[in-house]
Amino acid sequence: MIGLSFTLAITFMMLAAPASVAAAKPDSTPPVIKLIGADSVTIQVGESYRDAGAKASDDVDGDISASIRSVSTLDTSKPGTYAVAYNVNDAAGNAAASVFRFVKVVEAAAEPAAEPAVKAAPEPVAPAATAVTAPAVETVIEDTAEPATEPAVETVVEEVAEPAPETKPAPAAKADTRPPVIKLRGEASISINEGEEFIDPGATAWDMVDGNLTSRIRVSGEVNTSRPAAYMISYNVSDRAGNSAKKVSRFVTVLRTVDMTPPVITLKGGDSLTLVEDEKYIEAGFTAMDEVDGDLTARVEQGGMVNTARPGTYTLKYFVADRADNRTIIERKITVTPRGDAAAGEALAMKKCASCHNITSTKKKFGPGLKGVYGRKAGSMDDFNYSSWLGAGKWSWDKENLKIWLGENTKEAVKKVSGNPDARTKMNFRGLSGDDLDNIIAFLKRNR
Ligand code: HEC
Repeated sequence: MIGLSFTLAITFMMLAAPASVAAAKPDSTPPVIKLIGADSVTIQVGESYRDAGAKASDDVDGDISASIRSVSTLDTSKPGTYAVAYNVNDAAGNAAASVFRFVKVVEAAAEPAAEPAVKAAPEPVAPAATAVTAPAVETVIEDTAEPATEPAVETVVEEVAEPAPETKPAPAAKADTRPPVIKLRGEASISINEGEEFIDPGATAWDMVDGNLTSRIRVSGEVNTSRPAAYMISYNVSDRAGNSAKKVSRFVTVLRTVDMTPPVITLKGGDSLTLVEDEKYIEAGFTAMDEVDGDLTARVEQGGMVNTARPGTYTLKYFVADRADNRTIIERKITVTPRGDAAAGEALAMKKCASCHNITSTKKKFGPGLKGVYGRKAGSMDDFNYSSWLGAGKWSWDKENLKIWLGENTKEAVKKVSGNPDARTKMNFRGLSGDDLDNIIAFLKRNR
């Protein structure tokens, strides 16, 4: 049934900063996603959906279309509007602005619109304004047996007043041969909205001989207000002599309500939040409610990614549509602030490192110059005679490696960063922790 197997869960990538080579200029331009094909597609229920895909290009990495990840809750067995969200990161961890394609799943055949649900009622013909000229007051009664105006519809006319048993010689001169007359209360044609309660205003009946016969009126037909359609309600009555009135009908049209109100997505945890670099982003969740469709939370599509390894501002998008295709997209802004205080880190470096290193130059001292060491390949300063382990180093001094190098005793740290349990180093340092470690790394990052 479902042409695409998308995963429901979206993973917010926590990308490690890439262990790239000494990159003087960090790549901070995010890639751009472009849809292949239309941004809105309509298919029929049960039809399989083939996604046309998207392209992604990046200023540094070039074509990274293969890395695009798409997610959707698309269910081709259920009518509705769904979104497919496309996300991608470049190698440097920059997230592209997410892009959506809308997939509208529609009912196969033209839906039998507001067809008469049960009772075969003709199109509600506008009945003449003066519906039935029933005797308003007793005295006025004359020959009103045929109310001139009556809904001009064949079905209603079938029952004309029975011919009175005229053949029988009536002993009494005044045999009752006149049928009663029914008069509608209220309008002959009524429209109500789907789901609204229908209260039949009823009708009155008058007979020349029997007088008021309202209580004996028989009502047939019913209105199902949960099914938009045209309905007919008929009223009839007979007098004591067996003369039945001309049947009178009322047309009730139950109108399909048009849902124009989009669903409302509520973000738990607010629409903006701030994280410190490397803090984990945890999706706090959301709900989606629609006036007509109710809870649509499971239909919400998410787009966008947060890479907390890179300070910056990220936008996550949340999309949902109700069955009437009213769409809602909202955003959550996540600001990732840099970790550590570079100024405090510089002061600390003056105290802890300056005895062996030139901090703000590349010139060697007892150790190699530290200017530009952030992102630099290990053991790569030509003027410095490194230990063989660092000299042969294949790693870069990125955030993770510096955390290890400066966060513990270098005797142990060198084994970890080199991956060699026998490695040793000429730098003898016992390690920093907490804010000191964050601050000094923030300083080295700035000191480029
Ligand atoms: C006691 C002297 C000493 C102190 C203190 C010291 N270092 Fe070093 N550092 C060295 C030496 C020597 C090397 C070269 C190690 C080798 O070749 O094995 C080095 C290497 C490094 C490297 C690797 C550089 C490269 O080009 O691969 C970094 C990074 C570094 N030190 C950072 C620091 C920081 C930051 C501090 C202060 C928190 C510090 N060091 C404190 C002596 C020191």
